[in-house]
Amino acid sequence: MERLPGFRDFYPEPIPHKDVGSADARQYIFGKWRAAARRYGFREYDGPPLESLELFTTKSGEEIVGQLYNFTDKGDRAVALRPEMTPTLARMVAAHERAYKKPIKWFALPQLFRYERQQKGRLREHFQFNADIFGEADTAADAELIALLIDTLRSFGLTAEDFVIRLSSRNAWQEFYKRGVPSAGHGTGGEYQFYQVIDKLERTSPEETEKKLAALGFSLDAVNGFIEAGEPTVELKAMLDNLTARGLGDFVKVDYRVIRGLAYYTGPVFEAFDRKGEFRAIAGGGRYDNLVKLISGGKVNLPALGFGMGDVVLLELLKARGLLPQFDGGVDVFVLIEHEALRLESLKLIQDLRAAGRVVEYSFTPAKPDKQFKRAQELKAAHTASVEADSKVRVRNLLTREEKIVMPEEVGKLVGGPPSS
Ligand code: HAM
Repeated sequence: MERLPGFRDFYPEPIPHKDVGSADARQYIFGKWRAAARRYGFREYDGPPLESLELFTTKSGEEIVGQLYNFTDKGDRAVALRPEMTPTLARMVAAHERAYKKPIKWFALPQLFRYERQQKGRLREHFQFNADIFGEADTAADAELIALLIDTLRSFGLTAEDFVIRLSSRNAWQEFYKRGVPSAGHGTGGEYQFYQVIDKLERTSPEETEKKLAALGFSLDAVNGFIEAGEPTVELKAMLDNLTARGLGDFVKVDYRVIRGLAYYTGPVFEAFDRKGEFRAIAGGGRYDNLVKLISGGKVNLPALGFGMGDVVLLELLKARGLLPQFDGGVDVFVLIEHEALRLESLKLIQDLRAAGRVVEYSFTPAKPDKQFKRAQELKAAHTASVEADSKVRVRNLLTREEKIVMPEEVGKLVGGPPSS
């Protein structure tokens, strides 16, 4: 039996094949994501991976609807695996926003499913770091969110030379659109179609784009002229000033080629890319001030903004830049049982060390001392410890080769830190 195409198995390191995922790398990424979110005061939430189909069909736009994993369940309900977290979050916030002081700042690490054509950086299952803010209309919130995005990527060791946040605005494009089609209102079909053409500019031939734009009443020259001018709107300028004041100006640039594919965005939008342009977007997000209202059927109206950062592209980028650490089991101490007569005493030591928070390994069954030692080395244990006949413990640091004989209650302290400390 093989796994489905586009899905992933995560094995502990060292991974047995290049086709499988690393459970350790995934944990590492999740840890950095959580830590960054907490530094910015975001609280963790979660929701169900299966939702009613309707939650996505009207709210996310045609691109994502075409990629839905949907089916009819045994209760005849039309359901879908979540392709993104934002509609679920908007539903959850709309249901209980009164219980929370504003602004609401929440994050989640959902597993998402999209029936996409498999390609580099795109799978049918991925994890995303989602961070969203509700109840704040000021651009200060947009800047704060982008600062979080930048700091998250920086926490992996990436610098302004590795990635850039391309900043844009649906408002700017809306004004451009209205200049071309003065009778259009916000959110009309033609406007979204136009956004879709802009979203695909970099992936479509100029001839085809030209044709599509002409059908909507626009010329490619006018579109290119607008992009090249790259004049920041008042709100983008405020965001840039805010980020520059924090020393983060080098990480952002205005780029109107970004418009975002999802239907619900309303204001500033952005995407994070590697500077060399080797990979697809690392993250994307923006304002979606109308989604809560739409999902609550008009009952709740809250400005909102957020971003999603996928683990697939991020992992590729970290690998390419040599920024993934070596993973091992993190074993603090391997307890060698050199004489079976000392097994019970050794088990007591093992439990005491674990109770003190140390990662401890040992051999379940009798084994020659050199075999046990070899196992300790394979596990990259930082220390070995063996109970001696006089009940003292011989502790060896496997990095420095330093040996000490101590009382059992002193072992925990000795094997606490990394091998070099
Ligand atoms: P998105 O642009 O569709 O936005 O996805 C965000 C990121 O998730 C992408 O930049 C990419 O790194 C990753 N990603 C998306 N699809 C796949 C895939 N099939 N395989 C691997 N990685 C993928 C959203 O999902 C919005 N809901 C983000 C958001 C949150 N906006 C506001 N709040």
